[in-house]
Amino acid sequence: MGYFHCHITLVLGFFLISCAPLLSHADVGLKLPLKAVNLGNWLVTEGWMKPSLFDGIPNKDLLDGTQVQFMSTKWQKYVCAENGGGTNVVANRASASGWETFRLWRVNQSYFNLRVFYKQFVGLGGQGAGIVATSTTPGNQETFQIVRNDGDPNRIRLKASNGMFLQANSEMQVTADYGGPSSWADDNPSVFKMTIVSGGTLHGEYQITNGYGPDKARQILQEHWNTYITDEDFKFMSQNGLTAVRIPVGWWIAKDPTPPKPFFCR
Ligand SMILES: *[C@@H]1O[C@H](CO)[C@@H](O)[C@H](O)[C@H]1NC(C)=O
Repeated sequence: MGYFHCHITLVLGFFLISCAPLLSHADVGLKLPLKAVNLGNWLVTEGWMKPSLFDGIPNKDLLDGTQVQFMSTKWQKYVCAENGGGTNVVANRASASGWETFRLWRVNQSYFNLRVFYKQFVGLGGQGAGIVATSTTPGNQETFQIVRNDGDPNRIRLKASNGMFLQANSEMQVTADYGGPSSWADDNPSVFKMTIVSGGTLHGEYQITNGYGPDKARQILQEHWNTYITDEDFKFMSQNGLTAVRIPVGWWIAKDPTPPKPFFCR
């Protein structure tokens, strides 16, 4: 960033906060009004501006925060956290809405926690290998591997931490005790059709760092920072009459030397 001295004022706008009040620190000796531009998607990535940043993430359609629904292929009924959470998980609903929708908390590319409507997590712990949605903090018992069919990635099986697959043995209870043939046939009670609810998933820095994992994410983001906005851009802005830039930064960059995972310091 070698061109700040040519009359470009750096305004670090905190994410989601208007930059106007911050100008007062920077305007000593400046000619007002400023002519400024916002450099979004540089230090805070925004998926809609550069979707390709997400392309290398394994299972990139299952980013953290994605909402999914599961239909038992055997019963042709949706999995439901009864009452929206706090009790059993069943597979008896003809259509899917809030209680039949699960939000993915992505542990890594194939392991997930499933958060239900009232924010509990699906997990082991019910009667007779029954699956319940009672825990408010996800642990090992609330972690599931999503195993996708090669030919149809939305045909899935869910492996629990006890090593068994979930099954809808009856419509009235989903259990974690299927150890039978791993066929993908409709009548296999451990096979579910997964619907990804479109539109709700954020594509932000959380999803990038969580999705790639810390090492790969650092590499991808470093490359992005180095190439998305460069000295040449500042030169161009300066030569075309701009006198300020606004650069959104995340609170994890600006405020916190040890940000929580998956964010990292620069
Ligand atoms: C993903 O997470 C699961 C559960 O914590 C772990 O058993 C598995 O080894 C992890 N896989 C990778 C590739 O990190």
